[in-house]
Order: sequence, then structure tokens, then C-alpha cells
Amino acid sequence: MSNLIIENVSHSYGPKKVLNEVNLRVGAGQVVALVGPSGCGKSTLLRAVLGTHPPTEGQVLVGGNQVERPTRDVGIVYQHYSLYEFLTARQNVAFGLLLDQTSTPYRVFQYFSWRKLRKQHLEQADEFLKKVGLHAARDLYPSEMSGGMRQRVAIAQALIMEPRILLLDEPFGALDEATREELQLMLLKLYAENVRAREEDRVPPYTVIIVTHELNEALFVSDRVVGLSQYHNDGANGATIVYDRAAPIFAPDQPKDVTRFVEQKEELISCVFSPSFQKDHRKFITFWAQHEKQPVETKV
Ligand SMILES: Nc1ncnc2c1ncn2[C@@H]1O[C@H](COP(=O)(O)OP(=O)(O)O)[C@@H](O)[C@H]1O
Ligand SMILES: [Mg+2]
Repeated sequence: MSNLIIENVSHSYGPKKVLNEVNLRVGAGQVVALVGPSGCGKSTLLRAVLGTHPPTEGQVLVGGNQVERPTRDVGIVYQHYSLYEFLTARQNVAFGLLLDQTSTPYRVFQYFSWRKLRKQHLEQADEFLKKVGLHAARDLYPSEMSGGMRQRVAIAQALIMEPRILLLDEPFGALDEATREELQLMLLKLYAENVRAREEDRVPPYTVIIVTHELNEALFVSDRVVGLSQYHNDGANGATIVYDRAAPIFAPDQPKDVTRFVEQKEELISCVFSPSFQKDHRKFITFWAQHEKQPVETKV
């Protein structure tokens, strides 16, 4: 079973068709970079997966269930994600759990067991803050943190809910280059946890779709790159997936070898971003064919 299945999804805003017959399958533990021209419908597709804006046609399945509204199966972090200013980093991260697992009567009438549960949640929050490299900052308020730190807290806040899939919509878009790199390395560490889980025969814990307009970043943080574009033979009807290939993997401690993905970057630019590229787009959708014999899917 795949974590996410997008089946024949089309989306229109009034008479304007934005997405046209999008199909995509994502297995547990995959980190997918989603790229495409500005305005092609990437956020629209994510909103369909999130469940806030179901598609006008087709369906989205997460963990085998059709998505009709937001649930804790899907988490999302946006570019300008705002934390609760009156809560510390660890309280922000624990917030979803507190809200999800306790009701006001429970807090009032079972005060002592609630206090114990709250302590557990805060300890869990500390663990997730460690994962994003912010353990030392756990008692800071958002106003005391840099933009990069805030985004990491937001990611920890989403991860603690253990979503089947985490959506990141240009999460680093507003950050400077050095901070972006820090965050990219953080994502690679999560990826390394997936690899370890697979080696130990466990289901890899993090399945991520990250939208980014920066192609180096897309190729650096993901193990699979998907291109959404209106530039294809049937482009008048909106964007569809025109590219789906594996990306080279770098371990967090490996130096970034930019030359290794220059070729793929050029391929992406012509297939996904070039209006004059009108060849059969299916030619560049090869991910699952390449991975049929690999364990990505069987471990789910
Ligand atoms: N709520 C909306 N109503 C009408 N048009 C919209 C709405 N949201 C997005 N659009 C249009 O749909 C297209 C795709 O938008 P979007 O999904 O945000 O693209 P991307 O995230 O790839 O930049 C754009 O042309 C945008 O103007
Ligand atoms: Mg967008």
C-alpha cells in the first residue's frame, strides 16, 4: 500500500482548469520534490492532498482512505508559517498533541492524569526538537528565534503528529541561503532515519512532498523529483505531471557534489519549465518503472 495515491485529479477555478488528470503514487519513506512553473497548480494539488480543497474531479487516497477533509494523516508547513507567539518552542511543538488528546472536561476533572499526559507530550516535543536540531532552544519564544529556527519548530510541530505524509509548500522560500542550507541538511537527516528504518525492516517514518522553486534544492533534498507543468501536448487543459524521476542521494555528511546533478537540472528545465518543449511527456515519467524491483513499495 502506498502512503499517497492521487488518481485522475483535475481542478478548476470557475471556467479555468488548472490541474488536468494528475496521477501520482508516493510510497512510505519517499522524499519527493515537486517543482513546476509559478502558478501551475502546485499549491492547488497540495490543498487537494491536505483535504481543505477537494479536487473537482478524481480522488486522493492517504493510507487507503479517501481524503475529504483535513485529518491528522496529512501535515503541512507553509512558507510563512506562524507559530503561537505566546508559547515556547516546546509548547508550540506539543500543542497539537494537547489539543488532539485532551478535552477541557478531562483537564478539569482528571487534573492529575492530565498533568502526567502533558509532561509526556512535552518530553515528546523535546525529542522532535532534537530531530530538527533545536533542543537547546526549547524554552525560547518565537519572537526570540530566527526565521530558520521558526520554520524548524513548525516542521517539528507537524512531525510530532506522525502524519502519513508531510507537505512542505516552499517552506524555505523566505530564508537566506545559509539558513536554507541548514534546513536542507535537517531534511537529509530525516531521510537518513528513513534509510536506517528500512535497513532494520521497519516502516520508514517520514514521507514528504516538498514544493520548491529552487532546482538545486529539489535535487539535493529529495530522492525523487516530480515536475508539474502546463507545458505539454494537452497544455490548454491545465497542468499535469510531466516528469517523475529518481534524484541522486547525498548523505548529510557528504559534500554536495553539484556537478552530479547539473545534467538532471538541465533536463528538468527543458521538460518542466520550457514552454516550447512539446514532446510526449510520458517519456520522463519513469520513477516506478525504475524502482519496480526496489524495496520502497514492499516495505509499506
Ligand atoms: N482560490 C482561487 N481562485 C481562483 N484562482 C485561483 C485560486 N487559487 C489559485 N488560483 C489560480 O490557479 C493557478 C494555480 O495556483 P497555485 O496552485 O497557487 O499555483 P503554484 O502553487 O504552482 O504557484 C494560478 O493561476 C492561480 O492564480
Ligand atoms: Mg504555490
